[in-house]
Amino acid sequence: MIASIVLAAGKGTRMKSKIPKVLHKVSGKPLIWHVCQAASYMGVEESIIVVGHQAEDVEIEMGDKYKYALQEEQLGTGHAVMQAEPYLDKEVETIVILCGDTPLLTGLTLKKLLEYHQETKASATVLSAVLADPANYGRIVRNADEQVKAIVEEKDALPQERAIKEINSGTYCFNREALFNALKEITPENKQGEYYLTDVIGVLVKDNQKVEAIAVEDPIEISGVNTRIHLAEAEKVFQKRVNEKWMLEGVSIVDPDVTYIETSVEIGMDTIILPFSQLTGDTRVGEDCVIGPQTTLENTQVGNLTHINTTISTDAKIGSNCKIGPFSYLRPGTQLADNVKIGDFVEIKKTFVGENSKIPHLSYIGDCTIGENVNVGAGTITCNYDGKNKWQTVLEDGAFIGSNTNLVAPVVIGKNVIIGAGSTITQNVPAEALAIAREKQTNILNWTDRKKK
Ligand code: UD1
Ligand code: CA
Repeated sequence: MIASIVLAAGKGTRMKSKIPKVLHKVSGKPLIWHVCQAASYMGVEESIIVVGHQAEDVEIEMGDKYKYALQEEQLGTGHAVMQAEPYLDKEVETIVILCGDTPLLTGLTLKKLLEYHQETKASATVLSAVLADPANYGRIVRNADEQVKAIVEEKDALPQERAIKEINSGTYCFNREALFNALKEITPENKQGEYYLTDVIGVLVKDNQKVEAIAVEDPIEISGVNTRIHLAEAEKVFQKRVNEKWMLEGVSIVDPDVTYIETSVEIGMDTIILPFSQLTGDTRVGEDCVIGPQTTLENTQVGNLTHINTTISTDAKIGSNCKIGPFSYLRPGTQLADNVKIGDFVEIKKTFVGENSKIPHLSYIGDCTIGENVNVGAGTITCNYDGKNKWQTVLEDGAFIGSNTNLVAPVVIGKNVIIGAGSTITQNVPAEALAIAREKQTNILNWTDRKKK
């Protein structure tokens, strides 16, 4: 059985934040979520997160899928790993050590690391990287035969060691027994006065155990997030990865530099995403749609062949072959059937709109059920709130609501009803009726002449 230990007790001082570093988000998910995701892709069956600073916040966010080991004082990475030992299942043989702040590490890379570790039957395998500028990282020291000898932290390194370009990513596979036996041997006698996990490598080598290091193909993967600048850089990497994934799946993204699609989103073939659009959360878009420009879809499901232009939609369901926007605002609980048109400056909330119905201009529709083939004229308002409670409006099939109508809820407009423009409707209207609720027009003839006299 394979377990991961995810180190996340550090404060992340350089983030200058009230929330713990590992809970800052890229691509809509906390940094540590991405790390755990990669671990589960690799086949990890149990994860222990070592928490310290704002431990509770991390536990609440990540939930009970994980176990949490509290490291009260941050005495070093070796000390952090020791805190996790009591939580490990007894079946665990292999341990993957990860840092909670490296969201770019992929499951594929972890899989390769694990396979290499298993093939070579090593006691420890370090994921390394070869960097043009290795500053601040621990260096991988190899002997004349290229065998890993030790890891030396930069602060403790000799000048010739500092020249080494192969660095420690902070990600490793260990044989469980070898790891915890070696941890007993390490001491905080170094420049930082910390229990270095990296010292375990030297201990294992001295004990004639096999230690390997395998370099990551793309060093970007091992970058940790320490500042908000790094956070934005990581976001850019995700943006590129996600956009390229969908383009390879048959989605056209006209300008990937200004299109943000979170990892959680799904998009069908031959859909086109126009610039300045954001698709986030549990958003799923079908095939042959046109989304954007300037459209935000958050937790929004869209059918096929639907066009959505310059729109904001949150927690909504949109059917197939719909036309939405420009300037539509779909709020939570909006549900649109197929062939629906929602036009400019229309706000919809907690409303079902049936097939072939239209709300083309300048309306507020809230707490409403709309049947099929309904036409809602420009400027129609559902007066759904009396200052205390929200009330329902029902527009049955075929109803035609004249422009500038107020529908004072609760109210039911029957099948095929016609409402005269400018009406304020306060009572139910039976099917097939015409309702007009406005002052009768009075024309006073020759008015201007009379005024002159
Ligand atoms: C560590 C490695 C270094 C490697 C680098 C890669 C050690 C001694 N050094 O250095 O070789 O090149 O990572 O980024 O391991 N943490 C705890 N508790 C602690 C200390 C740290 O949970 O007591 C956590 C931090 O929150 C962080 C991770 O461990 O997520 C790494 O700690 P950090 O202090 O960043 O280690 P580095 O000095 O960067
Ligand atoms: Ca670090």
